[in-house]
Amino acid sequence: MAFLKNAWYVAAWSDEIGPSLFYRRILGEPVLMYRTEGGVAIAMSDRCPHRAAPLHRGSLKNDIVQCGYHGLKFDTSGSCIFNPQGSGAIPAKARVRKYRTAEHYGALWIWMGRDELADENKIPAFDFLANPDRYVTIKGYLHGNASYQLVCDNILDLSHVDFLHAQTLGCDATATARTKVLQDSNTTVRCERWMADNFQGPLLSALFERVNQRVDAWVDVRWDAPSNMLLLYGMTDVGASRAAGREIPNAHLITPEDDRSCHYFWASGRDFRVADTELTQQLQVGVEMAFVAEDKPMIEAQQQMLGASDLTPVDIILLEGDAATTRVRRLLGRLIDDELKTELNH
Ligand code: FES
Ligand SMILES: [Fe+2]
Repeated sequence: MAFLKNAWYVAAWSDEIGPSLFYRRILGEPVLMYRTEGGVAIAMSDRCPHRAAPLHRGSLKNDIVQCGYHGLKFDTSGSCIFNPQGSGAIPAKARVRKYRTAEHYGALWIWMGRDELADENKIPAFDFLANPDRYVTIKGYLHGNASYQLVCDNILDLSHVDFLHAQTLGCDATATARTKVLQDSNTTVRCERWMADNFQGPLLSALFERVNQRVDAWVDVRWDAPSNMLLLYGMTDVGASRAAGREIPNAHLITPEDDRSCHYFWASGRDFRVADTELTQQLQVGVEMAFVAEDKPMIEAQQQMLGASDLTPVDIILLEGDAATTRVRRLLGRLIDDELKTELNH
């Protein structure tokens, strides 16, 4: 599977990276991460150029990584600066690739493509994650044994909520919501669902203090290529404006690990009932449960069913709820094709 390389992906939550060696496979490439004594996050190839030992099995001292196999040492630029063998000569090719990174919204973003194309301004906005004075935030990380695209489909087609999450988030309104799919650019698609004058699911009704009440509710998803999504869920009194209601912003940041596995970073904020720490704890457990016990097993089972094949329009049927997933897959496919052609000519 080809991935979009000239794009920003989340490599880790910032607080996962400390002064020790940390490893994650990203877009099929082994990536070593650590934080220098000065607090700068570093990401470089985890593959030692000598005999391919994983560098994360080595050690970190004074910002220098030492391979645990034959002792080569690498600085923060990825250059080998010490060879303990024989004369100590350092071969010209003794370096590992260092990746461009940026820390925003409490996450370490990584650029797996060509360095000169990396532009931090292209990292999509997740303002609630940069506004701790207003929002209380819960967040987490999950590993998924499924293609990142299946996880994106899951967020882009929320008609599944009424069935897969029937006991928790589901209601009778999501699958029949009035849905609009809008394309802002060739890298941004929005899917907006409006659920007028209906009941919402038990967990969300309780959070919004609208148990057993009819409300107007919405769930809007913004997808930015290749796989970062902002989800806004809100409710207001029937007939009232959205501004008069409440809304919770959520981030779903999916990073391919390999063809059939991915990293899933999620976060959810709220700017009401912010002092209620018990509620925050309940939400942390409840949201994680929905992902771990409901979404994850279904998406992984879907991947097992597909095996090495991918979902293609010829062997699936499409329902109305698939409008956004179809648009996004087509768009992403085109971006990847264009990138492959450009790289071939480069
Ligand atoms: S494999 Fe790293 S020094 Fe030999
Ligand atoms: Fe779900």
